[in-house]
Amino acid sequence: MRRLAITNQKGGVGKTTTAANLGAGLALMGKKVLLVDLDPQSGLTVSLGFDPQEVSYTVADFLESSDSKPKLLSVEPDNLYLLPSNYDLTVVEYQLQRKRKVLSEKLKIFEGEFDYAIVDCPPSLGWLVVNALVWAEMVIVPVQAEYLSMISLGRFNQLFNSIMDPDSSAEIRALITMYMKRTYHSEEVLQILRERFPTFETVITRTVKFAYSTVAGKPLMVMYPDSEQARQYKNLAMEVEKWAKNRQ
Ligand SMILES: Nc1ncnc2c1ncn2[C@@H]1O[C@H](COP(=O)(O)OP(=O)(O)OP(=O)(O)O)[C@@H](O)[C@H]1O
Ligand SMILES: [Mg+2]
Repeated sequence: MRRLAITNQKGGVGKTTTAANLGAGLALMGKKVLLVDLDPQSGLTVSLGFDPQEVSYTVADFLESSDSKPKLLSVEPDNLYLLPSNYDLTVVEYQLQRKRKVLSEKLKIFEGEFDYAIVDCPPSLGWLVVNALVWAEMVIVPVQAEYLSMISLGRFNQLFNSIMDPDSSAEIRALITMYMKRTYHSEEVLQILRERFPTFETVITRTVKFAYSTVAGKPLMVMYPDSEQARQYKNLAMEVEKWAKNRQ
């Protein structure tokens, strides 16, 4: 099971959108994928069509108990599963203080069952995120093509290096989201970012279809399979597959 965490302390950069659509992209390629909503705000749970107050088993239960068979929700497309969250996760985060490997220990139960697990992080750098960073083999950092976002990415990278164990082989890669084509500023920032930071080839452009998909409770990959952005997330899934193959 390849372990991916999607993180950026900045809010609203496309973390949850990337978790849902990369997960759907890999599932459409025939991979079995587990999505973990590690955000107490439950963006991923909501965007996949569930009411956080109604879900009976959440990632908070999963982290607190020792179930041998955690209950997962099946979502569209086939092969895609969700461990949802709700606000209970804030209490769990408080209890996690200074424990870095709780998530790593718990998620071992899915080894062998899934090809990929993708953890969607909250926009913070608290103990939940530390647990996700320590667990991950690849950390994907969605960023907007703006100068200030790029500066904060540099800071995040320093922090990432200080959190990780010295013998960790985890990789970090930026993903440009909400890209506006044909603006000089975007082009310039993209170029500087690529020079300074490992960045996916794939760039995700801006469209209101993501917002429509969230309202419908389905990934854009499912709702608008022929859109430009569905093709982009498919390309991202292929880049991730290539990385996974090289890693084995
Ligand atoms: N490429 C895109 N083009 C246009 N809108 C987008 C794009 N990606 C995401 N969005 C929209 O931007 C908003 C924020 O996206 P998303 O929830 O994925 O960000 P996030 O980083 O998970 O936010 P948070 O930090 O609050 O969890 C959502 O309304 C989403 O539909
Ligand atoms: Mg989010």
